[in-house]
Amino acid sequence: MTSRATLLSLGVLASGRGSNLQAILEACARPGFPARVAVVVGDRERAEALARARGHGVPAFWLNPKDFGDRVLYDEALRRLLDEHRVGLVCLAGFMRILTPGLVRAYAGRILNIHPSLLPAFPGLAAQRQALEYGVRVAGATVHFVDEGVDTGPIVLQAAVPVHADDTEESLSARILVEEHRLYPEAIRLFAEGRLRLAGRTVTIR
Ligand code: GRF
Repeated sequence: MTSRATLLSLGVLASGRGSNLQAILEACARPGFPARVAVVVGDRERAEALARARGHGVPAFWLNPKDFGDRVLYDEALRRLLDEHRVGLVCLAGFMRILTPGLVRAYAGRILNIHPSLLPAFPGLAAQRQALEYGVRVAGATVHFVDEGVDTGPIVLQAAVPVHADDTEESLSARILVEEHRLYPEAIRLFAEGRLRLAGRTVTIR
């Protein structure tokens, strides 16, 4: 079994429900999983994600955007928290803020995000609704490295799900979410095991 000292320390950033955080926490609890959640940070006081973290004994911090003059100052505080907890990989899990270039550069190649579409289709908000409105037959989820754009970074893993004729935004989101909860821990495992190689915008899995 991997000893605690050799586990990759994750910093999870989340704004809401926290079901992806929950999937990550559950993966980390499995014997042999090579990572642990060291800290969770949210921008909303009542985010369920913060409560889930505390329920697992993980330090959880609310950074209130109103306490900071601008995004740069906010992200500097965020970075201090991540640094203090010696985070090796930052996982965005429904974090509703765009990271500043300074923070992206500080953790370059060490930030993952999960997005509920087959990128590069449907970046940004309400990806599932965008997919339904466009009329695609296949939707899905993407885990990607974070660069300075919105949902534009190098793709690590993707999974596809069918779109049914009678789908609503809720039913499609639920089908995609099942894949999200499987993909994110898998991507974290690959990163922690040093099996991801980044060249330009291509990720090779060894
Ligand atoms: C997920 O659909 C994720 O892909 C997107 O935001 C949602 C977060 O859900 N980035 P949860 O808070 O993890 O339940």
